[in-house]
Amino acid sequence: MFRRRTFWILAGLLALMVLVLAACAPPGGGKKEASGELNLLCTPQVEWCEGMKAEFEKKYPNITVNFVRMSSGESLTRLRNEKDNPQFDIWWGGPVDSFIAAKQEGLLEKYETPAQDKIINKKLMLDPDRYWAGIYVGSLGFATNKNWSEENGGWVPKSWDDLLDPKLKGQLMVAHPSSSGTSYTALCTILQLKGEEEGWEFLKKYAAQVNQFTKSGSAPARFVGAGEAAVGIVFSHDIVKQIEDGMPLILSFPEEGTGYEIGGMGIIKGAKNLENAKLWYDWALQPETQELGPKYGAYQAPTVEGAKPSRPELLKVKLIDYDFEWCGKHKKEFVDRFTNEIAGAENLKK
Ligand code: G6P
Repeated sequence: MFRRRTFWILAGLLALMVLVLAACAPPGGGKKEASGELNLLCTPQVEWCEGMKAEFEKKYPNITVNFVRMSSGESLTRLRNEKDNPQFDIWWGGPVDSFIAAKQEGLLEKYETPAQDKIINKKLMLDPDRYWAGIYVGSLGFATNKNWSEENGGWVPKSWDDLLDPKLKGQLMVAHPSSSGTSYTALCTILQLKGEEEGWEFLKKYAAQVNQFTKSGSAPARFVGAGEAAVGIVFSHDIVKQIEDGMPLILSFPEEGTGYEIGGMGIIKGAKNLENAKLWYDWALQPETQELGPKYGAYQAPTVEGAKPSRPELLKVKLIDYDFEWCGKHKKEFVDRFTNEIAGAENLKK
């Protein structure tokens, strides 16, 4: 009799404890609601950065995203300088060449996530050691001012060698490879197409055609559209965006093959908001997230299954077999050589 009473008293106490614990658990089925901050280093154009911030905050209303828009080369320099006290949690956008360089310098956090399973081509779009993942794809193109072309018999450049045509003396516009991933992609494309020796000779002549180097990669499309130069070297999706905004530009591609980017993403080593950075990383690899680009004027192709490309024609051009590892591993060396031997980075056009 005594034992039976003790049993029921204990059972009652246990039931009471469970009820109390359940009442104290946070809402959302016990899972702690994500909250706090996320410091984002954002390389694509600012409209897209703003849009992605808003979309992420819609999904995670208790997280505030603080972002800085910065070109690839500037971003890499910033991460190097802040290595011992990182101010950013995640870097999103810009060609993976810079992420490969950042990985090599121990600036990124390794992160394995089920979200990467959707990536279309893991060999190309996912770091084998899981320090970065690809989030978009874009091809390099030439933007020619329509009025200038008409004044020159409808001529537009159709090869890299066309960029050395005397009619383009002081009429070429491209970003500087020290600040811009777009420009570095062009530099490394030329070295791969022509070989290093001939490539560096070509780069000397190519730089001599440039009116003024810009800081950001997409800027030349705007300046050429405004008539400040005849031809710009920019990613094709940025040229399409400018054309859609009414700029008088003609898009063309080099027939011998053009370079392309895999836009990258990586969590910063020592990130102060690591869990929120992982939420962004997983979210950025969702098809519905990658289909948001066109809403913000970003027409890059997606990297995950289930996401529909908005401008598939931009990748249906002759692409070189761009060696991202080689270009990433040599980025500092090649940028330093270009800056010291061919064209300095002072006085970049903003
Ligand atoms: C533009 C393009 C992106 C590219 C980025 C690189 O925003 O739309 O596809 O990744 O430029 O920026 P950067 O200024 O480093 O060339």
